Amino acid sequence: MEYHQSVLKEEALRYLISAREGWVVDATLGDGGHTQYILENSNPDVKVLGIDQDPYALKRAQERLEPYRDRVAYARGNFGEIAKLLRQNGIDKIQGLILDLGVSSRQLDVPERGFSFRFDGPLDMRMNPECGLTAKDILENSSDKELQDIIRDYGEEKNYKRIVREIRKAQSKNPLTSTLQLANLISAVMPASRHARIHPATRTFQALRIAVNNELQNLKIALRDSLEFLDAAARVAVISFHSLEDRIVKNFFREEECDCICPPKIPVCVCNKKQTLRVLTRRPIRPSQEEIDRNSRSASSKLRVAERVYV
Ligand SMILES: C[S@@+](CC[C@H](N)C(=O)[O-])C[C@H]1O[C@@H](n2cnc3c(N)ncnc32)[C@H](O)[C@@H]1O
Repeated sequence: MEYHQSVLKEEALRYLISAREGWVVDATLGDGGHTQYILENSNPDVKVLGIDQDPYALKRAQERLEPYRDRVAYARGNFGEIAKLLRQNGIDKIQGLILDLGVSSRQLDVPERGFSFRFDGPLDMRMNPECGLTAKDILENSSDKELQDIIRDYGEEKNYKRIVREIRKAQSKNPLTSTLQLANLISAVMPASRHARIHPATRTFQALRIAVNNELQNLKIALRDSLEFLDAAARVAVISFHSLEDRIVKNFFREEECDCICPPKIPVCVCNKKQTLRVLTRRPIRPSQEEIDRNSRSASSKLRVAERVYV
């Protein structure tokens, strides 16, 4: 059964299934929905390398994709290390790359992973549950200023000072260990307005998750490091779910579309930069109303696609 509903599946993969042969990389394998669609709709000589840092996701995707075992390889790891993962798999050229960012519905729905304030669970939020700091560690070990910056910058939360003050007040009495404790504390200081479309803790949870998983930095590295592997006319498709991610993708594509980036007052180019990508989606592609009705998680998604050029 499909548990996580793949977002913008047809729209994204229309761009990726043009390859006749070679490797396509699904760097956010998750439940394997996008990979399955690629395998079903592409030439049998196209193979997919599925990457995920979550061992549970990899295991489930492997079971789902068993019928295609001859055409799929798996790599457990962070897409921030995409260059290493590709080399370890003997891959030096790829025909496509898809990044479907964030967490899967399955990760969100397991209380023990601590991603959601809909259930009580430990304040964990690590996509790779075997390493790195948890959300609880960050709440305990960051200075007030660091925590304010995380909540302001990664959550785009205006009330970051008030939230940190309340977190410190609560921590001075008892350790803050559970998702509901944190969500209730935030709700108490920011009662939801009748018109608010999201829970008052949404932005803070997003911020902590981004910090725990170093999401923005890994995205930047994956985009940059994949360039050398993209074959001529290979495509990169990125599905993002909030403006911080989308901005990184938009700016990266824009910069890679330019040749020289020297300041205008310099008469002769000294940067020697060459165009590497051509943007195929001038404006991001959004889900249809029908998809949003079927899967509310898709509502904020945006797809951008670029193609590798060699000049
Ligand atoms: C939105 S889900 C992908 C769903 C998948 N496209 C599908 O159709 O079933 C995102 C997945 O990417 C993984 N992920 C997120 N960031 C990652 C990173 N930096 N490195 C490796 N995997 C990552 C998460 O663990 C999660 O399983």
